[in-house]
Amino acid sequence: MNLHKHHQETKAVRGGGDLRKKNGPVSTPIYQTSTFEVTDNEQQLRATHTDMFYTRYGNPTQTVAEAAIAQLEGADAALLFASGMGAITTSLLAVLKSGDHIVAQRDIYGGTTKFFSQWLPKFGIETTFVDTTEYDQHARAIQPNTRLLYLESPTNPLLRVIDLKRLSALAKKHNLISVIDSTFATPINTRPVEFGIDLVMHSGTKYFAGHADLICGIMAGRRDLIQKIQDARTTLGVCMDPHAAWLLLRGIKTLAVRMQRQNDNALRVAEFLSQHPKVGRVHYPFLSGHPQRALAMEQMQGGGGVLSFEVVGTGDDARRLTESFRLFTLAPSLGGVESLVSIPVLTSHAMISPEQRQKMGVTEQLVRLSVGIENADDLIADLDQALSQMGAVREHAEVG
Ligand SMILES: Cc1ncc(COP(=O)(O)O)c(C=O)c1O
Repeated sequence: MNLHKHHQETKAVRGGGDLRKKNGPVSTPIYQTSTFEVTDNEQQLRATHTDMFYTRYGNPTQTVAEAAIAQLEGADAALLFASGMGAITTSLLAVLKSGDHIVAQRDIYGGTTKFFSQWLPKFGIETTFVDTTEYDQHARAIQPNTRLLYLESPTNPLLRVIDLKRLSALAKKHNLISVIDSTFATPINTRPVEFGIDLVMHSGTKYFAGHADLICGIMAGRRDLIQKIQDARTTLGVCMDPHAAWLLLRGIKTLAVRMQRQNDNALRVAEFLSQHPKVGRVHYPFLSGHPQRALAMEQMQGGGGVLSFEVVGTGDDARRLTESFRLFTLAPSLGGVESLVSIPVLTSHAMISPEQRQKMGVTEQLVRLSVGIENADDLIADLDQALSQMGAVREHAEVG
């Protein structure tokens, strides 16, 4: 018996497949089919609960990707969805009912804030938003009908890091389901299940896919919850296409090496920006001076590939800066091999109110970078040339 436990790099490359299988393809086949033939109706009945019945219920290519993700997260099981928002909306509708209440940290992806504040109330589900790192506020917001604690770490776009052990203990104490959006962390940098979190969500569109070529969502975690969510996925119809699942699987194979490079590149970029006179506050968990740096270094293997910073000047200065890069591509999204730049008030947080953005601290001067796997010197040279075209200069260095 082999008792050796594989590392994340190995799980990323080898996960999901049956390693004992011989004489088969090395690459997982794409089951590009909507339905599956059976020999008789007895078999038809047996097929209903498998991944070879009808692709909205499941599909073998998808199953391999789901198994690989569950192994990386250390979760009982994982599910794929047509998008990250599909994973969030379906999962919450699956585990909550009318009259339930959610406690959610304030800094979360804008689409999630919109779902909680504008859609869930239509189903009789209310949310209290609390300051992300004020844990007493989380505890005080819990009501008798609170069922779920919703978290995100590091946060989009301000890279705040939350104490996973403390919040999972709070959820357990009050019998709440804990859910975390771990898109920015990936299982290479943090595995929330190890801290006792029940459900781990990802926009698989980002680091898991890794090449800005598909949209997908992931929910991994406790088997009893995943079973409920799977039923909801079938009913709501937010399944992933088999070809996209295969592309995702290919992306997963390089997840560990990409993340290691992106961790290194992003830290170098953050250090460069923190010294630049035309840059105000820089937000990156592993940067010296970040308010949760010690916690981040305890919980995470790397700071991730995303950082944000405020330009010295106005929102217009920030817009002009983002249009003068030669390497950083002006586009929303993150987590791909190529470096991207965006302005959160115009992209990831455009769909929420200016008041909500203000409470989060998302300003017009804030610029978000998704650092790719290019050479860090080339990326820094691009930032340098773009910043040199800007007028204003700050008075003090700040790290956020
Ligand atoms: C942190 C985070 N969560 C969720 C989502 C939603 O994912 P998707 O765009 O795949 O629906 C995004 C998208 O940008 C995100 O950044």
